[in-house]
Amino acid sequence: MIKKFFDALNQPLGRVGLLIAALVVLSGAVWGIAQAQKPPEQPIQFPHKLHVGLGIQCLYCHPGALRGPSPGLPTESKCWGCHQQLQRFADPTTPWPTELQKLRDYVQQGKPIQWIPVAQVPDFVHFVHRPHIAAGLNCETCHGDVSKMTVYENPQVINMGWCLNCHRAKTEDNSQNNPTNDPAVSAMLAEKRTKLTDCSTCHY
Ligand code: HEC
Ligand code: HEC
Ligand code: HEC
Ligand code: HEC
Ligand code: HEC
Repeated sequence: MIKKFFDALNQPLGRVGLLIAALVVLSGAVWGIAQAQKPPEQPIQFPHKLHVGLGIQCLYCHPGALRGPSPGLPTESKCWGCHQQLQRFADPTTPWPTELQKLRDYVQQGKPIQWIPVAQVPDFVHFVHRPHIAAGLNCETCHGDVSKMTVYENPQVINMGWCLNCHRAKTEDNSQNNPTNDPAVSAMLAEKRTKLTDCSTCHY
């Protein structure tokens, strides 16, 4: 569908197409706002705050942020690997907190936990974590302070304007990106800007 859209841009009516695209993006943003305000009900109220506070690294549960095509969400066996060793509930007469009972039920019934994705871009958008992490951005920049959250909520709408704002900010020829006003850095920033704002960088 997006491929057809780009073909259409090369037609005389392409400009009208762009206008339509702008309108569609706008309506997408409104939809996004509605989405960001109402996080879905997750199968287990997983407390990020508590686990991050224990010192468990983001990458322990989301290892693909560095290596894989996507960060991934932990399976019940990763949770259980740790929880079955916790002594606090070893005594069978101790009642389990409701959310941990749910975890135990998933494990005992061999059912995978179906987490509902919240941080997501549509299929026709190309986003990978690796270049962003390599550029020195940390998780908080885009995901907010997860160490204060229970289930995850997007801190902002994830849409094209959000991506482009940052791509422009990071390639602006200003005192932050080019403190010594070096012409070679200016040229490099201009080249990067072209790349980071090009439709085909983010759309297949
Ligand atoms: C590396 C170890 C580790 C992993 C992995 C882990 N947890 Fe925990 N979790 C803990 C510890 C430690 C506590 C605190 C337990 C306590 O209070 O005794 C805890 C607490 C919890 C609680 C709160 C229980 C209460 O007292 O209300 C829930 C719910 C929970 N974990 C769910 C999960 C789920 C779901 C996963 C997998 C996505 C997971 N945990 C993965 C170590 C872990
Ligand atoms: C430049 C912004 C940015 C940074 C930095 C970033 N993320 Fe993301 N993250 C996103 C976007 C955008 C998505 C949606 C991607 C998609 O739908 O393919 C996402 C998706 C995710 C998901 C959803 C699960 C999945 O497999 O798709 C997890 C988990 C996640 N990020 C964790 C992290 C962690 C952990 C870090 C730090 C190591 C991090 N992110 C850094 C923007 C970012
Ligand atoms: C013990 C495992 C664990 C740790 C540690 C952990 N997470 Fe998560 N994360 C989860 C689980 C389970 C979910 C799915 C439930 C939810 O959305 O809250 C999730 C969801 C997310 C999502 C939303 C993904 C989506 O689209 O559904 C993001 C973003 C995220 N985590 C980022 C982080 C960051 C950043 C850190 C470190 C500060 C972190 N997580 C630490 C287990 C973990
Ligand atoms: C907070 C800032 C920030 C946000 C938000 C952000 N990016 Fe980026 N993005 C960067 C930086 C910095 C780079 C690395 C530029 C470099 O140094 O090469 C990058 C690189 C990329 C690349 C690799 C370009 C290449 O060289 O091939 C793609 C693709 C990309 N971003 C897509 C996206 C998409 C899609 C979104 C929104 C869903 C997004 N980015 C959101 C800062 C951001
Ligand atoms: C930095 C990444 C990035 C670049 C560059 C980019 N886009 Fe997007 N685009 C996105 C993201 C993310 C979405 C999905 C979220 C949304 O709808 O805003 C999107 C959505 C769209 C949509 C669909 C809107 C909808 O709601 O279905 C169209 C059409 C589009 N882009 C056209 C373009 C055109 C034309 C260009 C070049 C002028 C371009 N994009 C450049 C990231 C980018």
